[in-house]
Amino acid sequence: MILITGAAGYIGSHVNKLMHENGYQTIVLDNLHNGHEEMVKWGKFVKCDLKDVKLLSHVFEKYDIEAVIHLAALASVKESVEFPQKYYKNNFQYTKNLLNVMEKFKVGKFIFSSTASVYGEPNFVPISEEHQLKPMNPYGESKLMVENLLSEKSKNSDFNYVIFRYFNVAGADSNSEIGEIHEIETHLIPKVLDVALGKSKRIAIFGDDYPTPDGTCIRDYIHVNDVASAHLKGLNFLENDKSDVFNLGIGRGFSVKEIIKSCEEVTNCYIPTVVEERREGDPAILICDNQKAYKTLKWKAELNNVYTMIESAYNFHRKL
Ligand code: UFG
Repeated sequence: MILITGAAGYIGSHVNKLMHENGYQTIVLDNLHNGHEEMVKWGKFVKCDLKDVKLLSHVFEKYDIEAVIHLAALASVKESVEFPQKYYKNNFQYTKNLLNVMEKFKVGKFIFSSTASVYGEPNFVPISEEHQLKPMNPYGESKLMVENLLSEKSKNSDFNYVIFRYFNVAGADSNSEIGEIHEIETHLIPKVLDVALGKSKRIAIFGDDYPTPDGTCIRDYIHVNDVASAHLKGLNFLENDKSDVFNLGIGRGFSVKEIIKSCEEVTNCYIPTVVEERREGDPAILICDNQKAYKTLKWKAELNNVYTMIESAYNFHRKL
């Protein structure tokens, strides 16, 4: 069985669905702080917080777990700047709990969801895995601390890991049964779509004085189902008893203004904007070099059209 943490969340629910479609049995953990139980449509659900080592141990005792895909985390850059300790505790300390329990039960295969935030302000784009790691915010720092821990842990042991550094994950499953829901939405695409759906009046552009062609930040948006498919490849890779780290992005960047324009085209709605201050902790440009995942895992982003991503997200949000 595959244990997936954070499987009631946005990315976790898509990973869980794909695992199920590929014949894996899953046991899914979530504390439901940010996740939604109705997003867990496959596998065996256990409401569990990773600080609850007792319950965690019970899960490992009860089920025959071969590998763990660890997505449970807090993931707001802004919140991490306000409450750094909360991020170190949830993202680092609780991951350590999970790793300790895995060790106790001799489970040695681990897939970790990391982030492009570990790179900080890039020295070059597209960013390859060899780029220096210099996070600009506690969220990225907390993820980097786990990466370092994994690397230490795998030395001279039969513990192996795959780290995926996600760039900006977007879109929703094509039949709209799962998608992105956050109580307080901070991500650009769903926030713009909220304007199109009349749920808010305008979108704030956080800074238009960045050193980019139109002055707004550039990000590499990747479809959530492409992220999910990488996890399947990751499980296969772990069969070789090796560890490695891979970027997941499409290799192209879109500015905030370009995303807003694309949302207008997809939804056929005018989106009013207002320019506000830069958001603390935001690098100007993040574009992914995805060649390593392509060459080593034979993984490719298939849904790499930004309109497809926006359209699938729009179809999901319209149904809510
Ligand atoms: N933005 C706005 N207005 C908004 C929301 C966002 O202008 O209302 C801008 C941001 O400043 C940023 C871009 O849109 O330049 C994308 O912002 P998101 O909040 O959608 O995503 P982030 O780039 O901050 O972060 C996301 C994930 C992180 C991950 C990071 C890596 O949330 O987990 O991508 O690229 F680390």
